[in-house]
Amino acid sequence: MGDEIPPPVDQLAAVSLTSDESSSSTVQKARFSDRIRIQSILVRPDGGAGLAGQKVRISGWVKTGREQGKGAFAFLEVNDGSCPANLQVMVDSSVSDLSKLIATGTCVTVDGVLKLPPEGKGTKQKIELSVVEVVDVGTVDPGKYPIPKTKLTLERLREFLHLRARTNSISAIARIRHALAMATHTFFDEEGFLYVQTPIITTSDCEGAGEMFQVTTLISTTEKLERELIENPPPTEADVEAARVVVKERGGAVAELKAAKASKEAIAASVAELNDAKTHLARTEERSRLKPGLPKVDGKIDYSQDFFGRQAFLTVSGQLQVETYACGLSDVYTFGPTFRAENSHTSRHLAEFWMVEPELAFADLEDDMNCAEAYVKYMCKWLLEKRYDDMELMAKNFDKGCIDRLKLVASTPFGRLTYTEAIKILEEAVAKGKKFDNDVEWGIDLASEHERYLTEVVFQKPLIVYNYPKGIKAFYMRLNDDGKTVAAMDVLVPKVGELIGGSQREERIDVIMERLEEIGLPVEPYEWYLDLRRYGTAKHSGFGLGFERMVLFATGMDNIRDVIPFPRYPGRADL
Ligand code: 4AD
Ligand code: MG
Repeated sequence: MGDEIPPPVDQLAAVSLTSDESSSSTVQKARFSDRIRIQSILVRPDGGAGLAGQKVRISGWVKTGREQGKGAFAFLEVNDGSCPANLQVMVDSSVSDLSKLIATGTCVTVDGVLKLPPEGKGTKQKIELSVVEVVDVGTVDPGKYPIPKTKLTLERLREFLHLRARTNSISAIARIRHALAMATHTFFDEEGFLYVQTPIITTSDCEGAGEMFQVTTLISTTEKLERELIENPPPTEADVEAARVVVKERGGAVAELKAAKASKEAIAASVAELNDAKTHLARTEERSRLKPGLPKVDGKIDYSQDFFGRQAFLTVSGQLQVETYACGLSDVYTFGPTFRAENSHTSRHLAEFWMVEPELAFADLEDDMNCAEAYVKYMCKWLLEKRYDDMELMAKNFDKGCIDRLKLVASTPFGRLTYTEAIKILEEAVAKGKKFDNDVEWGIDLASEHERYLTEVVFQKPLIVYNYPKGIKAFYMRLNDDGKTVAAMDVLVPKVGELIGGSQREERIDVIMERLEEIGLPVEPYEWYLDLRRYGTAKHSGFGLGFERMVLFATGMDNIRDVIPFPRYPGRADL
């Protein structure tokens, strides 16, 4: 992609009207179904006018439907999710029972002819569909449909995660999210990075913050056992003793037969009985040891009996694992779900979110910052190019400034300042009367209010803060020569605050060992990570971009729960 920001679509129309595609008067069928996507009718420089006269089949859900001409015909606004615009569909009462079609949420497949709408009605529509046949209908009882025509608040919509993809806003966000994911893969592919899939289940705690969800089958196996023990109570000590007595008696019987030189058959039969008794005793003893509750050794849960034979968790970051590939394949990235069991109820935190984590070998902190900045800019340009229509919808419904913000970010260099400089700016603001909830002094972890003040008020553009105090950062970050700070960087953006967190990694084995000790982390679980420093260590750096925070930033939405299809947060994990 070039560096230029594309013109808005209405100007694009004028530019590309002469191209083959736009002057073409045929539409392309969706390859794997027999319908035509509404996008391929409406998202053309001529708004579809050039397609008048074409016979097409379309499918979608009715946004609004109204009968007119005293029930002689109906107008339906139909949307199939391929673009924000609806296709206006006209159905005559001679074609179908109109009352079944007009309820919001009704699914229709119709055949019809594209026509220019009658002029002078002041409609925006450049084309409408006059229905010849109604092929299929999925009806809706308007009295029961939970997503009515009148707008529900975003908060209320979260009660209907299974239906909210039918709304303009959530479907626009879904298309924007898709575009950002494609931009991500394209950017890194173009830059020569390999996409590496890191594990979701892990036995390492990357951030060392202890905010991990545990993965275990111990609880379900314990519950199963407890149910089984109620249905089938374990043998008592008396039962075990009785079984022992039987073994003893049968042993005696075998000895007697042998002493009496009884027949081979008689001895064999008696031995068989003895073996049965021994098996029964062993089973009885084993079952008598079964106890309700989690298995324990020395009062602690015995994870050797767990599924993986040790404690396991959902990952908080793929970084440590992706570093192993960076230290062999040079430039790599991972893009997957990450999980944090922090009890945050903010509009910026999720318990399950997606993270994009590039890892660059032979790169220092400055290279890392350059990569982060180029990647964010690339995504902004991509959205302006590919999803301008959805961005217009976001600007209209949620955040007037979101398009300008994308343009600004795409074209303006990010500010860069050290943590120490950032603290100085904040202290000066406080001295001039600015009030923060959290005190400002060197050594603090910047709070969201500080980050947003810096990026929204002071700089009014994205900002990279780097060289943070080591005391507030993870063990893997490279210690600077001052001995006090580490080569960490955070990208802060307006509306969101922290979008990216990254660092140069500590590649010196002795220094990283000291850091582990200083922080009080055990060495043993990190031995494999330390091997990367023991054998052929390489300077390397990387960062993690919170994907939902990027969607928030791009769309101007206020709550992170509305920019992921299925939000998970304390108390909620619907579907
Ligand atoms: O700053 P974080 O914790 O960095 C890491 O996890 C590093 N291991 C990344 C790396 O260097 N490879 O998280 C990275 C980003 C944050 O900047 C933020 O955008 C996002 O992940 N993030 C969250 N997003 C939504 N909900 C949460 N609970 C988040 N926690 C972090
Ligand atoms: Mg961070």
